[in-house]
Amino acid sequence: MTTVSPSAGVSGSVSTDPLQLIDVDHVQFYVGNAKQAAFFYAHCFGFQIEQVCDLTTGSRDAAHYLLTQGNIRFILTSGLTHEHPASMEVAMYGDGVKDVAFTVFDAEKAWERAVRNGASSAYEPRTYRDEHGSVTMAGIRTYGRVCHSFVSRTGAYELTKVKQGGVFKPRFRRLDGAKDGCGTPAAGCGPQSGVGSVLSINEYNRKNPCGLKYVDHLVGNVELGKMNHWVKFYEDVMGFSMFKHFDDKDIATDYSALMSKVMASGNHLIKMPINEPAEGKRKSQVQEYLDWHCNSPGVQHLALRTDDELHSIAALRSRGVDFLTLPDAYYEKVWDRVDGMLRAHGHEAVREDHEAVRRLGILVDSDDEGYLLQLFTKPLQDRPTLFFEIICRRGSQSFGKGNFKALFEALELEQERRGNL
Ligand code: FE2
Repeated sequence: MTTVSPSAGVSGSVSTDPLQLIDVDHVQFYVGNAKQAAFFYAHCFGFQIEQVCDLTTGSRDAAHYLLTQGNIRFILTSGLTHEHPASMEVAMYGDGVKDVAFTVFDAEKAWERAVRNGASSAYEPRTYRDEHGSVTMAGIRTYGRVCHSFVSRTGAYELTKVKQGGVFKPRFRRLDGAKDGCGTPAAGCGPQSGVGSVLSINEYNRKNPCGLKYVDHLVGNVELGKMNHWVKFYEDVMGFSMFKHFDDKDIATDYSALMSKVMASGNHLIKMPINEPAEGKRKSQVQEYLDWHCNSPGVQHLALRTDDELHSIAALRSRGVDFLTLPDAYYEKVWDRVDGMLRAHGHEAVREDHEAVRRLGILVDSDDEGYLLQLFTKPLQDRPTLFFEIICRRGSQSFGKGNFKALFEALELEQERRGNL
């Protein structure tokens, strides 16, 4: 099975299917303090703090920071007024993912089609326009408070130009003093405008890259009994299909269990596994998430792809990222399991240095197509909700099923420390 690399996008021809996804346009987080969160993600994960939209650019109700790395674009948003949705949602749920936005050829048509397919609208089409071009956005609701925006872009705001450093949307400005995508010097930028700390962290990150390339998959936790509802939603509304399915026999420990179904877009641009808690002796990790998320479904983790797991994990560890710790016993069995499976299917053994994999605490798994390396951070905020996965694929298109048991035992250790098991 091959996967379309999101960085490659699809051909420029306009599709007859309005829901054909071109790319993950961006992932928007609602956070309590976007300015501070920007520095956290820049310092710990190597993102460029590239652009801002705030009071200084005429945004009176919210501040937005564009963070970029490879083909990953995060928008960190915090409300400037108490009635802004970001302020209200952060008060309820803490920091988390609000919007998984997709670039399409025509956002209005995509939204119309999705609504006709049964989606409820999050917001109607709106166009942000200036003399350089336009960005049209329209949103539908998915599980919990999360939405999917459809985004179509023209002129200087086309995604190919944004990827080259062009301005993300009208009212955004670059923070580094470079020329914007329209070829004009970005106003109010440079050290004289008080962004020296941004410049220095961006410079450091350019010289010391973490190697994160794009969003590989994005996992949602839903309530008990709601899995099939959301599977059907992605099939009926978005035209996704089921890519993999794991039940509680695959994902269970002595204490807890969960079920997972992986939904994939038509071109496999994005994979969205959906987790549902399953009955276990004690509380499952999905239920813990729901308990600390006002019993509301939401995005549990975002998997970020790298081509060099060892380099990325070493870089992130050196920056202070906290990862899940596995019992040493994991490495006593892993090579027989993983390399054994690879050889049985005629593949070469894992080429990364086995001792370095152990030293960096990285997880490994294989299937009939190849192998993958992965590692999970601890929660990114005080609540045990959202975390990241750093993943490198060498042929395998799976999700680390062979690691589930070892991983969940490690997760339960953390849950126990938090008094939530
Ligand atoms: Fe994952």
